[in-house]
Amino acid sequence: MYKQGKLTGLRWLIRDISDRKQVEYKVICQQLAKEKELSELKSCFINTVSHEFRTPLSVILNSVEMLEGYSDRLSEAKKSNHFHKVRLSIGYMVQLLEDILFYGKAEANKLEFNPAPLELEDFCQALVEELRVSAKEGQDIVFSSKCDRPSVCLDPKLLKQLLGNLLSNAIKYSSKGSKIQFKTICENSQVIFQIQDSGIGIPKEDIPHLFDPFHRAKNATTISGTGLGLTIVKKAVDLHRGTISVESEIGTGTTFTVTLPCSPTCQ
Ligand SMILES: Nc1ncnc2c1ncn2[C@@H]1O[C@H](COP(=O)(O)OP(=O)(O)OP(=O)(O)O)[C@@H](O)[C@H]1O
Ligand SMILES: [Mg+2]
Repeated sequence: MYKQGKLTGLRWLIRDISDRKQVEYKVICQQLAKEKELSELKSCFINTVSHEFRTPLSVILNSVEMLEGYSDRLSEAKKSNHFHKVRLSIGYMVQLLEDILFYGKAEANKLEFNPAPLELEDFCQALVEELRVSAKEGQDIVFSSKCDRPSVCLDPKLLKQLLGNLLSNAIKYSSKGSKIQFKTICENSQVIFQIQDSGIGIPKEDIPHLFDPFHRAKNATTISGTGLGLTIVKKAVDLHRGTISVESEIGTGTTFTVTLPCSPTCQ
């Protein structure tokens, strides 16, 4: 009787140990997978960033060499074109650095959500003006707003990243002379942003991966980019507890729709 009880106890102990071992094994596997993912992410990061810095740096070097060596032979228009290229390349690198810092903060869960009263129409107009500088020849960003209130409660820093990335994609992935529609609608307790272009479109198989870090669609590989922009957009949308959707057709264009809940005041 006593022996039987001891044996049962021993069996329980063995089962308990093996259950615990199995849990530990699972945890170790998950950690290894995470580490593998992290190291893959790290090498992706280093490759992409170093590649993306090389192009603007060589543009700057080339323009500086032209301005230095041939200044006396260059027309004023050509000189100003070189200065414009230098400015654009610097702007591109600054944006790249900002994206990297933003992404790093988001990954470390250190991004803050600081909503403040925002005059939406003025905010969007200013952003459009800022982005017009990087638009292609003849490209037009047409902004329209239907908002029944003077201000909305959103985080201005996150919103700038969010809309800035969607608008620069619309510019980047559509051709010279094309039109980009940017609409905002405030209704009930939400704001809807819609950015529509008539560019290259996104292949269906890439749509589920658009918000993954460093993912780039196969029809975009000849156009420069890191694949971080939409990851940042998604983080900003999530911090606002909003939603994002995309409709796209190859060769016809893409429309991103973002819906953010918000109240008129920030109390
Ligand atoms: N408006 C668009 N039209 C067509 N393709 C798009 C559009 N927006 C995004 N994409 C596709 O989604 C991919 C991911 O976009 P994302 O903004 O994250 O990266 P990126 O533009 O390649 O680089 P960057 O980090 O410089 O923004 C792009 O590489 C492109 O293939
Ligand atoms: Mg982008």
